[in-house]
Amino acid sequence: MSGGVYGGDEVGALVFDIGSFSIRAGYAGEDCPKGFINACHLQADFPTSLGAHVEEEGPAEMGSEQENTSGRSFYLDTTALHVPRAGVELISPLKNGMIEEWEGFQAIMDHVYSKHIKSEPSLHPVLMSEAPWNSRANREKLTELMFEHYNIPAFFLCKTAVLTAFANGRATGLVLDSGATHTTAIPVHDGYVLQQGIVKSPLAGDFITMQCREMFQEMNIEIIPPYMIASKEAVREGASPIWTKKDKIPPVTKSWHTYMCNEVIQDFQASVLQVSDSPYDEQVAAQMPTLHYEMPSGYNGDYGAERLRIPEGLFDPSNVKGLSGNTMLGVGHVVTTSIGMCDIDIRPGLYGSVIVTGGNTLLQGFTERLNRELSQKAPPDNAPCHTARPIKVWMRDH
Ligand SMILES: Nc1ncnc2c1ncn2[C@@H]1O[C@H](COP(=O)(O)OP(=O)(O)OP(=O)(O)O)[C@@H](O)[C@H]1O
Ligand SMILES: [Mg+2]
Repeated sequence: MSGGVYGGDEVGALVFDIGSFSIRAGYAGEDCPKGFINACHLQADFPTSLGAHVEEEGPAEMGSEQENTSGRSFYLDTTALHVPRAGVELISPLKNGMIEEWEGFQAIMDHVYSKHIKSEPSLHPVLMSEAPWNSRANREKLTELMFEHYNIPAFFLCKTAVLTAFANGRATGLVLDSGATHTTAIPVHDGYVLQQGIVKSPLAGDFITMQCREMFQEMNIEIIPPYMIASKEAVREGASPIWTKKDKIPPVTKSWHTYMCNEVIQDFQASVLQVSDSPYDEQVAAQMPTLHYEMPSGYNGDYGAERLRIPEGLFDPSNVKGLSGNTMLGVGHVVTTSIGMCDIDIRPGLYGSVIVTGGNTLLQGFTERLNRELSQKAPPDNAPCHTARPIKVWMRDH
């Protein structure tokens, strides 16, 4: 049963989790968004990025596009976003985890209500996640939008970390969230975020994508996104790919093309990379079993030591090329620094329940390495960390 009792009626409360990488929405009170069990189309999980086009003349063609007061058309959701169109720039409505481009955000909400939830916003109370550092002005603007524009009956904004802790059955814990743009340790005590203990690092999924892109450049491997490819031939390992380009590709913008290239890299990231269970050692990495991976263009090769070398920067930024000095904190340090900034009495409780969430933590070996680092760094009295499955998993896997 979804929702609870509100004003004597049974209600289907909606949950929105707005990330910089993707938007997740579904009915509350279900192990997976309600729509999935009965009909998949009721569930929403699509990229946060939007294609934006300034109309010069005439209405835009059909698609999941919406026109706004500024005269821009937005192309959103997985299918519409992936269609190559001339002059469509890629924009992200979020910056630093906070909503910044309100028109784009509204386009997303309109789309979720009309195409995924397929119900009136006024019928559903809303629980929405927000970044722990969300500003008061931002929160007020969002609340105003939800009540006055969408006319929703009730609204609750909750910090992502608190939701993660509750989803894992805890009111106290240290939430480590590694998403696309940042990795953050957020101490939660009795259901409240301890703001003074938040520690943030920019080393997350986007950083890994950038590292992979540099590696491909060094290896002279060109990333060809699927939208350009009409056909390809099987080639032997390491050989130049043989593929034919689609004709009639409209002149797409650089930002849109880069996004499509990044998607290819992100697939590589999820399929090939693995976090080493102990600090990176070249000799150990050389023994690593290789993994075969084929690009959309047909280029295929075996990856060995690189599998461990690239994600190592998350845990030990000191050897990463292009990072200014050694000032950035690795994941283990982010956690210990955060706990160290909290009251000494609650530290054992935090060390005892470290909860891991965010897409980047799905990297193979991530939690094992963190567990290992924490059991070495934690004061001896504290039990090694407990890591739970990221809440994102149920959103993502189903
Ligand atoms: N299976 C996987 N293995 C490795 N990385 C993954 C996997 N799935 C997703 N990612 C990476 O996780 C990141 C997205 O994580 P997530 O969905 O938690 O971000 P978000 O919450 O939308 O963004 P943010 O927290 O930065 O606002 C991307 O960089 C993506 O490449
Ligand atoms: Mg996130």
